[in-house]
Amino acid sequence: MEQQLKELQNQALEQIAAAANLKELNDVRVAYLGKKGPVTEVLKGMGKLSAEERPKMGALVNVVRETISESIEEKQELLEAAAIEQKLAQESIDVTLPGRPVKQGGHHPLTRVAEEIEDLFIGMGYTVAEGPEVEQDFYNFEALNLPKDHPARDMQDTFYITPELLMRTHTSPVQVRTMQKHEGRGPVKIICPGKVYRRDSDDATHSHQFAQIEGLVVGENIRMSDLKGTLDMFAKKMFGEDREIRLRPSFFPFTEPSVEVDVSCMCGGKGCSICKGTGWIEVLGAGMVHPNVLEMAGFDSNKYTGFAFGMGQERIAMLKYGIDDIRHFYTNDLRFLKQFSVHE
Ligand code: DAH
Repeated sequence: MEQQLKELQNQALEQIAAAANLKELNDVRVAYLGKKGPVTEVLKGMGKLSAEERPKMGALVNVVRETISESIEEKQELLEAAAIEQKLAQESIDVTLPGRPVKQGGHHPLTRVAEEIEDLFIGMGYTVAEGPEVEQDFYNFEALNLPKDHPARDMQDTFYITPELLMRTHTSPVQVRTMQKHEGRGPVKIICPGKVYRRDSDDATHSHQFAQIEGLVVGENIRMSDLKGTLDMFAKKMFGEDREIRLRPSFFPFTEPSVEVDVSCMCGGKGCSICKGTGWIEVLGAGMVHPNVLEMAGFDSNKYTGFAFGMGQERIAMLKYGIDDIRHFYTNDLRFLKQFSVHE
């Protein structure tokens, strides 16, 4: 019997050593230590033994059983560790591989210009105001000193929705809306970026939809020199410290006096194709807010004065980046847009 147990043990250890995976190892466990296994069989036969032999054999069976189960445990740990190793090897990450580039878009050149201008004016204490693109005739024209039959309405050919409702032709109505909110009390200091619409035929310099930025300052003792200083600063920050501005008399119904503002050309006054040989480039319209406009918005024009200006975002962007056709902004040609996808 003792011999039989030794053989059993050796056989079991051999099979344990040969088990290639956890399933095979479990089969060995069931075969040798299970209820129907040979070790249990030997135990069952113990009754036939003499009283002296029984404890000796009992002890031996226990040793065999423990040896087998210890060996199974050891092997199990080995197999489990090997399984983990294998998994790790399969899932290994090569940290030296170059990363996959994340595709990033960039801001549209118009957005960049608008944000740059906004930042500049916010730095000077302005706040950003907004107004509706579908506007009332009253705000777009009448409250800006352009009554119904005023000939200057022809300067801004208009998309009407109803006789009283239109697509705003400029951002100037936001001046009126903002002043109304202030209920006759200054100071007012805003800029207003936004889309505007005109019944123009699209070509290299015209678009039926474009973007403007309006500026308005109302307060006590606001003077033309304040306007000039502000715009000079704007031109230098936007186009370069060596740039200058010049004011030319002009006409807008909502300002008196009105001016057209030119910035000196990058050619330094020699004359080039951009400035058409003049050394100057027209960039915006401006003036002192007309007393009628102040009064209609509820401000006492004896106490308050103000200046206003309005510029086209596309025009500024075209000059700043050397873009020669306004349609580039709207045709979504990636070759054009990608030139502005630099992240700052
Ligand atoms: N609204 C004018 C336009 O679209 C631009 C303008 C000129 C705005 C003079 C102003 C201003 O605020 O004072 O042509």
